[in-house]
Amino acid sequence: MYEICPETAADEPEVEALYDLCFAPGRTALSSYRLRDGVPKVADLCLVLRTDGILLAAIRFWPVRVAQKPVLLLGPVAVHPTAQGEGLGGLLMRNSLARARKLGWARVLLVGDAPYYNRFGFARLDDVVMPPPTNPDRVLGLELSRGAWVGVTGQVTRETSPQVVEALAHRVRGLDAASACVTVEPPDLAVSQEDDNGDQSAAGASADQ
Ligand SMILES: CC(C)(COP(=O)(O)OP(=O)(O)OC[C@H]1O[C@@H](n2cnc3c(N)ncnc32)[C@H](O)[C@@H]1OP(=O)(O)O)[C@@H](O)C(=O)NCCC(=O)NCCS
Repeated sequence: MYEICPETAADEPEVEALYDLCFAPGRTALSSYRLRDGVPKVADLCLVLRTDGILLAAIRFWPVRVAQKPVLLLGPVAVHPTAQGEGLGGLLMRNSLARARKLGWARVLLVGDAPYYNRFGFARLDDVVMPPPTNPDRVLGLELSRGAWVGVTGQVTRETSPQVVEALAHRVRGLDAASACVTVEPPDLAVSQEDDNGDQSAAGASADQ
């Protein structure tokens, strides 16, 4: 059994160590980190996945803006090397995106490998520009509400509204205590594959389709 819970301050050192293990040294020098500097994470959506107390995977989200509209920046997401390929990344992706939809977020952005993220409904965003240097082929978006990326184009910028930042930093919205942590069975990869197809048809078209 796995437990998925919102990340707490106590989890942070372990999550940072997991990211250091999974990504190349100097990951925080990536341009996407400039959008995160000095901006708190979206507390409700940053999740850790544990089994018997052992951290196996983590996902984080930050608030950003495109064309003044609120956007979720997904990442980093990482699974411990000993547990990769077992569906845990997919579990965290689906669980966090479902929470985001429930909380009323409309659109998600990430910089990553399209062959992995396509299965969750992400598609290239032609007219959304991350700080350089970023390969445009890796700038991917997902609509949580239909049409949410249509006409939303231009530079990705930091969230600077103090009110928004303050609200997102605290776990105060929407999710009741009962749904904060969930216990899940080990993923059945065959079933996950079928779910992926269903997710894609429900995801709506992105701005470049
Ligand atoms: C990428 C990552 C989060 C995926 O999580 P995971 O639990 O290992 O993956 P899942 O079990 O959910 O999915 C496995 C599938 O994803 C594919 N996959 C994994 N990483 C991939 C990548 N970078 N590009 C394309 N496909 C990828 C696997 O080949 C496998 O495909 P299959 O279902 O056709 O066999 C995890 O492997 C990881 O932490 N990698 C190192 C850090 C990283 O690269 N993070 C993402 C940045 S883009």
